Parts: sequence; structure tokens; C-alpha cells
Amino acid sequence: MSTPATPTAALLAEIAEIGRDEVRGGYSRPGFTETELALREWFIGHATARGLEVEIDRNGIVWAWWLPADGSKDGAVITGSHLDSVPGGGAYDGPLGVASALRAHDLLAARFDAPAAPIAYCVFPEEEGSRFGIPCFGSRLAAGMLDPATARALVDADGVTFADAARAAGIDPEGIGADPERFGRVKAFVELHVEQGRGLADLDRPVAVARSILAHGRWQATIHGKGDHAGTTRMEDRHDPVVAAADVIQAVRRVADATADARGTVGRMVVIPGGTNVIASRVHLWFDLRHASDATTRHMLEQITEAVQAAAEAEGCTAEIAEESYSPEVSFDADLRTRLEATLPEAPVLDTGAGHDAGVLASVIPTGMLFVRNPTGTSHAPDESTSDEDAEAGSVALAEVLEALTT
Ligand code: GLV
Ligand code: MN
Ligand code: MN
Repeated sequence: MSTPATPTAALLAEIAEIGRDEVRGGYSRPGFTETELALREWFIGHATARGLEVEIDRNGIVWAWWLPADGSKDGAVITGSHLDSVPGGGAYDGPLGVASALRAHDLLAARFDAPAAPIAYCVFPEEEGSRFGIPCFGSRLAAGMLDPATARALVDADGVTFADAARAAGIDPEGIGADPERFGRVKAFVELHVEQGRGLADLDRPVAVARSILAHGRWQATIHGKGDHAGTTRMEDRHDPVVAAADVIQAVRRVADATADARGTVGRMVVIPGGTNVIASRVHLWFDLRHASDATTRHMLEQITEAVQAAAEAEGCTAEIAEESYSPEVSFDADLRTRLEATLPEAPVLDTGAGHDAGVLASVIPTGMLFVRNPTGTSHAPDESTSDEDAEAGSVALAEVLEALTT
């Protein structure tokens, strides 16, 4: 790896070897695993070295406090992001926001001994939901949008419950849940994130202010068929859930193609039992739908639900669909956005189709976001990128924003 050209890039370089995935490429850093914990320890080490007061809240969110002279935590401005990743993800989705928070702190600490109002640098666990299926896991719990009993009972692909994973990560699973008292003391949350499209690259600008997030949700379709022998079962006797799943994949694509500005994805499928010479007995297939309008997203879901039932019936299978998460359309806080735009007058304003903790927390506190240029426009894949210079420009912009919001 080449020598990082800027301090923000140097911070990211320190974690470049943690969670590398030699099979998929890129990084696999699932939530509440040793990998995510190692990254969290890296952050805590930096926070401690800077004299920040570190606490881990009841939902596993890390807070590193820089307090004003009176030591108050009321009216705090918070920033930060996540350190977990999708399977085979890029280096910047999440970590850029965390590294930029540390770098912004250093820029501000060079200007004054203490902030005029409290600032906390935060790390949110399991933002991608790649382990327990629910994105923005920590912020959803904190916002009261995920029932603690439901969360405790979730299982990962290896059958480990969230309750057990939480205990292993040092979090009391009985203590998780809505945290209105803590978030009631927060004045604003600004999350910096690598852009996950080509908006800034096309505009030739390094940093943008965010306006909105598409409504989005995740559903699991389970198709039950009849397991049997690949060689001895005549074609007319089969009830093959993989064949039904193929129709469902086509239906998701068809519905999304037919809906203006919609997104529809099948990115994950598990075939049970999964043998080359075995007709499957069951298929689990997850689909992700997104659109600016909640009603349109729900309408797409209705059409796909009908297609799932029709596909199952045509193959003599049965099917059911379960909603794993739903995030309504988010418009970031208008007053906060006006302040961000006034602080960064050169920054364009962009919408996004990607979910974020700032989107979830928008339901309980004023939130906003900054995006940093990604020349490839690719995300959730190893090609995700940002230049060292743009990473630094993002930290500088974040420091300006934190200073403006705390004075
Ligand atoms: C998270 O990055 C998502 O948009 O799913
Ligand atoms: Mn992501
Ligand atoms: Mn992210």
C-alpha cells in the first residue's frame, strides 16, 4: 500500500488489514464479531489517547466525549458512523465517517482547548445488518424502533442468538432498548459518509450535504418444496423451490424496472440442503426494495408478494414472506440542513438510496449528513473508493460543521 497522503487517510490505513476477506475480496466485518470489536478497540484507543471520555451505552454504541469547560453533556452535537461492513464490502462505507470524526477532533483541538458545547464521536454497531438481518441495529434499538425481545431472539447464520453475541461483546442483552434520556440531550447528529453513487464525481466536487434517503426495506421469502434425488425423480414429479425462486428473482427485477426510480434487488439466497445432486427442500431468498415514496414501495411489495405465491403454486410449492426491516423515506432536518449549507456554501445537496444510522435517528433527533466523493461511484463492493485528498477535505468540512454547531 502507498503511503497515505493525508492524516485522515493515515487513520484509515491503520485498520486496512482488519477484516480483509480473501475469498470475497474487500472486507467482511460483521457486527458484534471479534472483527468489529477489534475495530471498535482501535477507535477507543484513539479516543483515549486524545483524552476523550469513552462510554459504551446500553445498545453497544460507543461515545467518545469532548466536553466543554463546565463538563456538561447537555445540548451535545454528535458525529461518527459505523465500522462493520457488508460481506465483501469496501474500505470506506462506515470507517470514513469514524476516521473523519477523529481527524475533525484533531483539527478542532488545535484551535481551542475545549468546545463551547459538548461533542461526542460515536460508533454505531451492526449498521449493515449483515449478521442479524436488521440494518442500523444499534440506532434502531436506541430509537425504540426495534423491540428488545425480538432483537435478543434473532439468530445469525451459525445459529448464535443476538443475546449470546451481545454478551460476548460485553453488552447486557437485558439492558438493550430505547434510550430517550440519552438522545434527549443531543442537539444534532451529523454523519459523514463516503458517497455511494457518482453524484459528486459528476459534479466535480469533494463534499456534499445530504437531503433525503429513499424508503427501503428487506423481506425474506421462504419457499418450501420437496427434497429428492436429482437422478431418480422424473421432471414431472418435482416440486423444486429453486425453480420457483428463479421466477421470484425475475419478478423483483420486473417490478422494479416497471416502477420509475425504484430499486429492487435479490442479493442473497440460501438453498437447503444445498447439494449439487439434490433437489432442494427449501429456499430462503431475501429481497430489498427502495423508492422515494412509502406507498410506492408498499405497492411494489404487493406485486412481488403475488408473484411469490404464483411462482410457488406453479411448482407445487408453498411460500411465505416475512418483513425483516422497514425504513420510511427520510428528509433530513431542514433547519440543520440549512446550517450545513451555510457552513459549506460550495457543497451541492444530494439525495441517496442508501440507509444510514442518521436516517434511523432522524425519528428522534435532528440529523444531517455529509457525503465525500467516490470516483468509482461503487459501494458495498471492493471497488468503493475515495482519494486521500477528498477524505481530508471531508474531515475539514466536518470540523467546520462541528464548530458552527457548537458555537
Ligand atoms: C446500507 O448501507 C444500506 O443502504 O442497505
Ligand atoms: Mn453500507
Ligand atoms: Mn454505511
